[in-house]
Formats: sequence, C-alpha cells, structure tokens
Amino acid sequence: MIALLKEFMDKILIEGGTPLKGVVEVSGSKNSALPCLFATLLTEEECVLENVPDLVDIDTACSLLSFLGKKVNRKDHTVTIQSGTSLSTEAPYDLVRRMRASALVLGPLLARLGHASASLPGGCAIGVRPIDIHLSGFERLGAETQLSQGIVTLKARKLLGKRIDFAFPSVGATENLLMASALAQGRTVIHNAAREPEIVDCANFLNKMGAEIEGAGSKTIHILGKKSLRGARHRVIPDRIETATYLLAAAATQGELLIQAVHASHNQILIQSLEKIGMEILADARNASLICRYFKPLKPLNIVTGPYPKFPTDVQAQWMTLMTLVSGKSVIQEAIFENRFLHAAELCRMGARIEVDGNRAFVTGVKQLSGADVMVSDLRAGAAMVIAGLVAKGKTRIHRIYHLDRGYENLEEKLRNVGAQIQRVH
Ligand code: UD1
Repeated sequence: MIALLKEFMDKILIEGGTPLKGVVEVSGSKNSALPCLFATLLTEEECVLENVPDLVDIDTACSLLSFLGKKVNRKDHTVTIQSGTSLSTEAPYDLVRRMRASALVLGPLLARLGHASASLPGGCAIGVRPIDIHLSGFERLGAETQLSQGIVTLKARKLLGKRIDFAFPSVGATENLLMASALAQGRTVIHNAAREPEIVDCANFLNKMGAEIEGAGSKTIHILGKKSLRGARHRVIPDRIETATYLLAAAATQGELLIQAVHASHNQILIQSLEKIGMEILADARNASLICRYFKPLKPLNIVTGPYPKFPTDVQAQWMTLMTLVSGKSVIQEAIFENRFLHAAELCRMGARIEVDGNRAFVTGVKQLSGADVMVSDLRAGAAMVIAGLVAKGKTRIHRIYHLDRGYENLEEKLRNVGAQIQRVH
C-alpha cells in the first residue's frame, strides 16, 4: 500500500530553460529485453542476458518468470535465468495487467508444454490493444484457443509449422509466433511480419539457443522448428526509443548531445526528419555514438507514424513537444494506436497550440512553453512532458511519473549530467 502511494505521489520537478550539453549513455532496449526474457521459457538450460535495463517493466517480467517457476538472478544489468523444479503454465492477472508484454509468455509455454493460459491484457490509455493476431497465429499452428472469464487458454498436443499471414505486422504477435514456431514440427513462414530491430534481436537470441530462423527484419520470416533449444548468452541491443528521446530533448532545448552506446541505423527515419528540420546529426557507427547539435532555427515537418522502418509511434509524443516550439504549422498523424494524443491536452496547458482531430494533431509553433503542473498518461507521453518541462519557462511539476519508470533508466540522473535542472520529489 505504501509503495503504491509512493508510486502515485512521486513527482518530477523541472526548472526549464537550460540547453542540454554533454554526454549521455543509452541503456539496453526494454522492448528487446522483454521478449528475450520470455524466450528463456523455451529451454531448461541456463540463459544469460546482458545489458538488460533496470526498469519496472523488467521487474514485472522477472516476477512473472519466477512465478512460472524459473530461478531469476539479477546483478547490475545481467540477468541469469535457470530452471526451477517445474514450470507453471498460467500467467496471473496481477502481473499481466501491469504489462501487456506479459502475453509473450503464451508462445513459449504453448510450444514447450502444450498448454498456456493468461489473463487477457486489458485496454490501456493509448488504445484497446487486443491480441487477436497472436491467437489466430497459434491456431494456424494447431492450437485450440478458449476464452473464459477474461482468461485465454491455449492447448495443443503438437504444434505444426504452417504459413501464417498477419493482418497487421504486430510486434508482439511476431515475437510470440517466432517463439512458438521455434519448437513446432516442420517449417513455419510468417508473412507480413513486423520488422522492428527488437524482432531481429529476439531472433538472434533464439538462433543462439539453437533455433533456425531466417529473414527476421524483413516481411517474411522462415522458421525451421527444433525438438529442443539450449541455453545461451546474449547482449540486448541499445534502446532506440530512449535514443530518440535524447535526440529530441537536444533539439527542443537547442543543445548539443553526444549520445553513446547507440545503433544509429535503428533511428534512421528520426535522424532524417531531424536533419530535414535543421538539426545537425553526426553518426559514428564505429564508436556507436551520435552527435546531435542545434545551430539554427528549426522548420516544421509533418510526420505519420507506422510500423518500422516508418516513424515510430513510441516517438510521436516527444516529436509533438518539439513541434510545439517550431515556428509554423505541422501535422502529426498517428496510424498505430487509436488514442495516443493524451499528451496534447497537457502540452496545451503549458501554452502549446495543438488541435486534435481523430488521428491527426495540428500543431502551431509557439515562442515559448510555460511551466505548469502536468499529468502523465503513458510512458512516452511522460517523456514528452519531461522534454516540455526542460524547455518551458519556469517550474514544471510532472505527476504520475510511475509510467516513466517503466521505460527510462536513471532518467533524472542522465539529464542532470547534461545540465538539466531536474529532480524527483517524494
Ligand atoms: C510494441 C511495443 C510498443 C510499441 C508497439 C508499436 C513492446 C513491449 N511494446 O507493442 O512500445 O508502441 O509495439 O510499435 O515491444 N493489434 C491488434 N491485434 C493484435 C496485436 C496488435 O489489433 O493481436 C494492434 C494494437 O492494438 C495496436 C497495433 O496493432 O493498435 C500495434 O500493436 P503491436 O505491434 O502488437 O504492439 P505491441 O507488441 O503491443
């Protein structure tokens, strides 16, 4: 109860107006670490994952693995997962409700034990988010699906490799089906698969475990099922959404950041967009770093979110904050989630001019935002509010920051190190 109250009462205070300058290091990718953690359910041997960020969503994933019967040991950014006595096949409501990605236990449990059940992830602030694409994929492989009292149960005596055509390139469904078909009998081909770098990372880890997956990162993925998988060690890729957030914070505060431990190619569309509006970006692939420098007034640019390699929906909110400060008009179209503009109203409370019409937001740049009390509605909306606070005149107090702790490691400390006046208060 006290932890819950603390979650609700912690706030971030920012005194805005300082351009960010200096070096910031990006953590491991949350969205890559999560499927990799759940992939360890596919083997009874020991797996070691490195560069796993210290985040609340990772805590939830580790709790879920422990609940299911794995022994999980976390030290710094390395997580070691070993087998316990036996595996349970039921993911409880309390853990699934906290994180939609918990549905990723279904594929590995079904493939390994022929049975899996989990509470259906509910709707969330940014949309309804069903898992129908995952379920029809499992059914193609021969699983029976039952829905009762909010719990989905999957059963299969044997999974058989098949051709699967996704109606939409869902990230989670691609990961779930990669994991399930890694232990199915025969060959599975996934058409219209998601192409995100996190899919490639998950496939690389599975291949280290002995899976035979080809084509991850393209629209068509071939998987030759194996009888069993072995343990493996894997280093999770850098977080491209965290990278994007720092790039946008540098642009909005008219600063200059050296962002380290990144894969610049994973942020191609954002880098191109920032260059188009007038930022200078220097990518140094050999040193895995990026320099982002403001040197002239920026121009507005329209964006439309879409599946990778299009503009990421997870960067839409932060981009919106930047556009509120760029002289002129721009349009932001959200094509992935149906309700992902909750941050617009909060930005308007800080003086931004944004009109939302369906899945489009029309932004007219203003000279300055002013500090205010604002509320975070979801993880990336939280990042947008932090960037707004960093630029705004005066004090900004950000409420409901537990969303931020799901996805940004050491956010305040990293920003303080590059000049931001930011602190967490209890
Ligand atoms: C992942 C990311 C999330 C990101 C999203 C889109 C993780 C842990 N999370 O979420 O940060 O915002 O990709 O890039 O990696 N959909 C269906 N039916 C399904 C599955 C999805 O209708 O069975 C819809 C969703 O409601 C949503 C869209 O497809 O509107 C995208 O969902 P999906 O790609 O599955 O995202 P997630 O894997 O949930």
